[in-house]
Amino acid sequence: MWTRACIFDLDGVIVDTAKYHFLAWKRLTDDLGIIFTEKDNERLKGVSRMASLEIILEIGGKKLAMSEKKELADLKNKWYVERIARMTPQEILPGTLEFINELKRNDVKIALGSASRNTPMILERVGIKNVFDAVADGNSVHKAKPDPEVFFKAADLLDVEAARCAVFEDALAGVEAALNAGMICIGIGDKNILKDAHMVVSGLYEMDLNKLIILEKKLGYEHLI
Ligand code: BG6
Ligand code: MG
Repeated sequence: MWTRACIFDLDGVIVDTAKYHFLAWKRLTDDLGIIFTEKDNERLKGVSRMASLEIILEIGGKKLAMSEKKELADLKNKWYVERIARMTPQEILPGTLEFINELKRNDVKIALGSASRNTPMILERVGIKNVFDAVADGNSVHKAKPDPEVFFKAADLLDVEAARCAVFEDALAGVEAALNAGMICIGIGDKNILKDAHMVVSGLYEMDLNKLIILEKKLGYEHLI
């Protein structure tokens, strides 16, 4: 098969932390008197902490100094960390480990590519720190998705060329980042939102190696193998 490595986003692909991000942002926006809905929250998926705050302030029509913004971002993160500190292995989304194990049995390397600076804590809490051959996250990259930096970094750490990586992403910004990296992209979630992805499934429980091979053929990689 063409794919040598699979790179997984964390929030919304391996664990459903989007709900915890939402609750922490909601607490902050309630304090600030900003109306913030679950629909608004879609815009924050895959986006870095500070960029998320900027979007929220734009929604609320508020302009703040950088020092105030930093304080607010820290406060949101404190609330978020209080919640993720109680995560358990039961929160790994269905099908994740089965699919990753199937890939590993077939010599496909596995990496994580997430914007989150809380990645190490989440991996530790849900007990999958040792599952990945490489981890690229918000602590090791500077440019936020849709910039491809985090996926290039993961490919680099794995020593696999970008064109032979497939990315699994639930966020629009993440799908764009994968495409900008020249990688195959499988969207996790809603086909109408993630329409630029090469294929969309509802969750990793719908994925298996065969589907990836069929997608590679559809994309024309067959003759290159
Ligand atoms: C992404 C999430 O994975 O990480 C975003 O989809 C979040 O919602 C971003 O803002 C940064 O996360 P953290 O944990 O560093 O605040
Ligand atoms: Mg995500």
